[in-house]
Amino acid sequence: MRILFTGGSGKAGRHVCCYLRDQGHRVVNVDLTPLDEAGIDNLQADITDSGSMFNVMTSYADFDELEAGAGVPKFDAVVHFAAIPRILLKPDQETFRVNTIGTYNVIEAAVKLGIPKIIFASSETTYGVCFADGILNPDSLPVEEDYDVNPMDSYGLSKVVNEKTGRSFQRRSGIDIYGLRIGNVIEPDEYERFPGFFADPVVRRRNLFCYIDARDLGQIVDRCLKTDGLGFQIFNAGNDTNSVDISNGEIIKRFFPGVPVTRELGEHEALFSNQKIRDMLSFKEQHNWRSYVPKQEPI
Ligand SMILES: NC(=O)c1ccc[n+]([C@@H]2O[C@H](COP(=O)([O-])OP(=O)(O)OC[C@H]3O[C@@H](n4cnc5c(N)ncnc54)[C@H](O)[C@@H]3O)[C@@H](O)[C@H]2O)c1
Repeated sequence: MRILFTGGSGKAGRHVCCYLRDQGHRVVNVDLTPLDEAGIDNLQADITDSGSMFNVMTSYADFDELEAGAGVPKFDAVVHFAAIPRILLKPDQETFRVNTIGTYNVIEAAVKLGIPKIIFASSETTYGVCFADGILNPDSLPVEEDYDVNPMDSYGLSKVVNEKTGRSFQRRSGIDIYGLRIGNVIEPDEYERFPGFFADPVVRRRNLFCYIDARDLGQIVDRCLKTDGLGFQIFNAGNDTNSVDISNGEIIKRFFPGVPVTRELGEHEALFSNQKIRDMLSFKEQHNWRSYVPKQEPI
């Protein structure tokens, strides 16, 4: 497929772009800064500029596309990752502005240009626990996609608004628009952080103990590209198990006492549930932390 990818130069995007390239897709990265990776084309543009979004979506990917003499090829899909990726990087209103206006511009241009599929990055932070003032427990566990999301921070709120934007454009157009509530992204060289998580599991509480390997996130996006006809969907994008080496029984007792558990849970099954991507997208985890973290000596 010919794919326009926003935010491909970032932490998550660069792994996902490479994964998609390796699956045989042609990827054009639209970002403020280019990504220096073989086989990835770049266009530098700002998602908050609507005209630029219409323009990049009607552009050649590179010089080779001039050869056919058949005009600009159409994009088969847009994957939208560009954003201010958390609070406390920019003033709150700037995070909200870039993320909501940027997402509106990207989705609007794609829909009005007849691009038939859009996948966009939402976030685990929509559940509200991550950037809450004080200790906020989830309403229930595991956390699944039908949760009544109501975060209290500008970033989480921007992602909730983006989900509404996607849903609204899907209703008008009837195309497939899938939002990924992405968990805490872990790059291959970050598994060295895991022993620290095991020593002090509370550092993972605000992430609901979730993680997503950046390459497995590539697989999830690819599965979204290859699974048609689902209309508007929200998917948690996380790995199969928690990012700590203690059981769910112990996590709940120590960190989420009194929180209702709505179904039977596996001993290490992710509390940030990825059941839906396994059921609807046939996602099969390739990169569990246990393959990369040396076994810890009992203390
Ligand atoms: N990293 C995580 O753990 C995590 C978790 C949940 C959701 N997400 C979401 O996943 C996506 C990618 O996150 P990331 O960690 O790779 O972030 P990142 O900051 O590393 O990458 C974001 C990219 O977007 C680009 N960008 C920012 N503003 C732009 C603009 N106005 N126009 C064009 N490009 C712009 C940046 O240059 C950067 O390359 C974001 O939407 C983020 O909110 C990330």
